[in-house]
Parts: sequence; C-alpha cells; structure tokens
Amino acid sequence: MKILVTGGAGFIGSNFVYYMLDKHPNYDIVCLDALTYAGNLKTLDGALKNPKFKFVKGDIADRELVFDLFEKEEFDIVVNFAAESHVDRSIEDPGIFLKTNILGTQTLMDASRKYNVKRYHQVSTDEVYGDLPLDRPDLFFTEETPIHTSSPYSASKASADLLVQAYHRTFGLPITISRCSNNYGPYHFPEKLIPLMIANALNNKKLPVYGEGLNVRDWLYVEDHCKAIDMIIHDGKVGEVYNIGGHNEKTNIYIVRKILELLGKSEDLITYVTDRKGHDLRYAIDPTKIKNDLGWEPDTMFDDGIVKTVNWYLENKSWWEEIISGEYQDYYEKMYSNR
Ligand code: NAD
Ligand code: TYD
Repeated sequence: MKILVTGGAGFIGSNFVYYMLDKHPNYDIVCLDALTYAGNLKTLDGALKNPKFKFVKGDIADRELVFDLFEKEEFDIVVNFAAESHVDRSIEDPGIFLKTNILGTQTLMDASRKYNVKRYHQVSTDEVYGDLPLDRPDLFFTEETPIHTSSPYSASKASADLLVQAYHRTFGLPITISRCSNNYGPYHFPEKLIPLMIANALNNKKLPVYGEGLNVRDWLYVEDHCKAIDMIIHDGKVGEVYNIGGHNEKTNIYIVRKILELLGKSEDLITYVTDRKGHDLRYAIDPTKIKNDLGWEPDTMFDDGIVKTVNWYLENKSWWEEIISGEYQDYYEKMYSNR
C-alpha cells in the first residue's frame, strides 16, 4: 500500500505520518508539503530516517508537479491535510486560503481521477458547520448539520468539501471526508491557542485571551484524530462524511488557566484583548456515527493529554523556540501589538 500524505510537515499531518509508519510498517508513505511558514522539515527528522518514508517539497496546487508525482508513485490512497489552517490569518489575507484549500484540493482530485487512486480522503474540520449558541448545551454538530461558515478559513474548507462531494457524485471518485474538532498535542504551531499560551507562559509574556475567553472549543488529542483517519481510509464507506470528536468542550479561559496551573505560573499573565472578528461561539461534535460504524473512540482524555502536551513543549523547547525566533516575530507584532 502506498499513501500520499499532503501537508505532512505540519501539525496533524506529521503526527499522522508517525502514526502510520508505526501502525503499518509495511506501507510506503510519501509526504508532499510546500513547507510554508507552518511546515517544518525538522518535525519529520524521525520519519526521514525510515526507508518507507519519502519527502517531496511542492505545492498541492501545482498541477504539473502533482500529476508527475502521481504518475511516478502510483498511490493507492491520498490523504489531504495540506491547507492554510489559521482563522486569524484568513481574516488578514483570505486569498491564499482559496488557492491552497480549494484549488489545491481540486488539483489533487483531478490527479486522483486520472491515476485511479482507490481512496481520496479529505481532512476537513468541524468549522464548516459554523457555530452553536453558548446557551444550548444540548446541541451538537452531526454529519447532517447544514454547512454554514463564519471565517474565510472555514468557507474555504467548506468549499473544498462541496467540491469533494461533487467529484464523487459526478465522476465517481472514491472519496471520504472527516470533520474533526480542535486538535492539540506535539508539533502544534505556536500561533494556535494551546501552544501559543504554553510558549508565552514559559517566556513570562502576556497570554492574550480574545473577548472574555468564554468561547468554547471541543478538544481532541491529535493521535486520536490520526487513529480515526486510519480507520476511515481502511473501513469507511466511500462517499461518506465522518465527524470526529471526543465530547471535550472547554472555554478558552479554562484552557489558559489550566496551562498556567500546570506550568506553575501566575494568572496575572492573562490579558483580555479585542475579540476576533466573526468569532465562532461554540464547537461541539457528535461522534455517534464514527463510533457506531467504525468502532472509533478516543484513547486520551483531556486531563492526560494536556499534561503530555505541556511536557512535550517543555522537553522540545528548541523545536518551538526556533519557530518563534524567526518570521513569527513579525506575525506576532502585527496581530497582537495594538490589540
Ligand atoms: P498546519 O497549518 O499545522 O499544517 C499545514 C501543512 O500544510 C504545513 O506543513 C504546510 O507547509 C502545508 N501546506 C500549506 N499549503 C500547502 C500547499 N499549497 N501545498 C502543499 N503543502 C502545503 O495545519 P494542521 O493544524 O496540521 O491542519 C491540517 C489539516 O487538518 C488542515 O486541512 C486543517 O483544515 C485540518 N484540521 C485541523 C484542525 C486543528 O485543530 N488544527 C482540526 C480539524 C481539521
Ligand atoms: P485557535 O487555536 O486559533 O483555533 P480555532 O479558532 O480554529 O478554533 O483558537 C482557539 C480559540 O482560542 C478560539 O476561540 C480563539 C481563541 N484564541 C485566543 O483567545 N487567543 C489567541 O491568542 C488565539 C490564537 C486564540
């Protein structure tokens, strides 16, 4: 079995590469990644030593490169993680989100059609469902919840999902789609809530909480997401959407306080800043379908996962310190200096 993993130098993609090399040592894994600001080849150091793993630098929207790669490698399965993934960046500059997330997906599916890939899996997000009200804890996103997006990021991911479903219906492309809640764990880029707060706390910098910190996210340990995708590409039904989440809803301020507690730092570091434009209130996944159809359940509960994650950032300081010492500084200045 040969699998193309796009975006494998990013957070979830790299965790998936390691998960698959470990779980299926006889599979060949090829990673295609453009190494944007979010991609880091160092993250794949361990995989690059494995003869079953190969890295190719390139853009998923580059038709010539993608078609050449598919012709040469004859992939059985494609798992598309490659994306622009940060909501705040999509508010600043939506264009690249449309190019990578929509046109990149189209390019990969065109190549998958031409070279008869047996499964094209699209890694999507619960953000395509929009948000839920804070005062209705009885409501959850199911696979039937209408698409209803808020940010340029979620709109681009939803557009891609619609295109993936159209390629299935129109061309018979054997697709599956997964929509997961917020992930956390090793190799998470420090512009996102959890790693940003860990890095700032360790550097005794202010922890910028948007609005009142009462927005709710449904957090899943990244390895449980990888396990779910592995199950879907092997046993999922072609044409289907699967929601992935572990019923672990927390307010942002709860997460920030928990990180400070684990690091033994003062809550005085918290600073409330101007809210995100169009800020989604609450995400909450109903994972009944993947549980009943594929037997998936999360293995890591939040109280363990957050300790593992904080420890990983403590033990791998060089990984994130190198990131935040580079162009990230300009990003941080731009996003947070006058907020
Ligand atoms: P990330 O930003 O950490 O990584 C994205 C990777 O894609 C990077 O390695 C980057 O270099 C690569 N990339 C970007 N543009 C590319 C292009 N044009 N061609 C090739 N490679 C390109 O993102 P992540 O958090 O790991 O998310 C991975 C996927 O999972 C995304 O599709 C995202 O929408 C989805 N998702 C993320 C979460 C989450 O909580 N992070 C939750 C649900 C779904
Ligand atoms: P984020 O990690 O960007 O994920 P997403 O927006 O895709 O859910 O943000 C998670 C939540 O944390 C979101 O409600 C916005 C909030 N947040 C802050 O309060 N401060 C920050 O500096 C960041 C990056 C996020």
